[in-house]
Amino acid sequence: MSKHSESPILNYIRQLYAPEDALLAQIRTTFENRGMAIQVGAEEGKLLQLLLQLHGAHTVVEIGTLGGYSSIWMARALPEKGHLHTIEADPEHAELARKYIHQAGLQHKITVWEGKARDVLKRMAETIPVVDAVFIDADKINYPHYLDWAEAHLKPGGLLIADNTLLFGTVQLDSPPQEGEGGLMNPVRETTWKAMRTFNARLADGKKFNAVMLPTEQGLSIAVRRENALDAAL
Ligand SMILES: C[S@@+](CC[C@H](N)C(=O)[O-])C[C@H]1O[C@@H](n2cnc3c(N)ncnc32)[C@H](O)[C@@H]1O
Repeated sequence: MSKHSESPILNYIRQLYAPEDALLAQIRTTFENRGMAIQVGAEEGKLLQLLLQLHGAHTVVEIGTLGGYSSIWMARALPEKGHLHTIEADPEHAELARKYIHQAGLQHKITVWEGKARDVLKRMAETIPVVDAVFIDADKINYPHYLDWAEAHLKPGGLLIADNTLLFGTVQLDSPPQEGEGGLMNPVRETTWKAMRTFNARLADGKKFNAVMLPTEQGLSIAVRRENALDAAL
């Protein structure tokens, strides 16, 4: 999640390594103008691309589409037969995403599934039981449920990426955030704080994933599903 930055260093990185084309810039400004600068930053979009390329991912699930900004970054990294399934609960966001995905010429590579992610994921698994990569970027309280799904449906060696795992600067607190912590835009409830602590602890405990969190502004966790028990020695 990132507002168009005022930081000269971030702007330098974005312009040099992750320049947006006109469509990506339009999606970003559309949501910024609505006070919803909650899509990934351009450099994170580029990182998602690189990770999918490195991984050779074909089938990718994204939880939290918004206007399709990160979906478009990711789908551009997929091979011709690759596919991104992205899930969005808000019908207005889903409609905008479909429009932008069409404008990007990526409608053959991206399917927008509309509905609450936990319901959609259940339905999706009936036809798509195994996936190569999952990107989680939606309601924080459900991150542990999305992790359950990823554990069950990621192929061994599959890639898991999750944004906002610092929970607006509150995840590291020793006790639940007090009122106002997390900022006016993102008041963090105790239940959500517990959910994100659980999510991070499960990723980090090494049992099912080999994982790290990048200290981006919002925290970006990256993990690889273990192949088998021997791999747990890593
Ligand atoms: C942070 S935005 C996603 C940003 C997008 N990944 C990007 O970087 O361009 C989160 C989105 O998740 C959606 N969302 C929230 N809770 C959801 C749920 N339970 N199921 C599906 N989508 C949800 C919101 O409507 C919002 O559009």
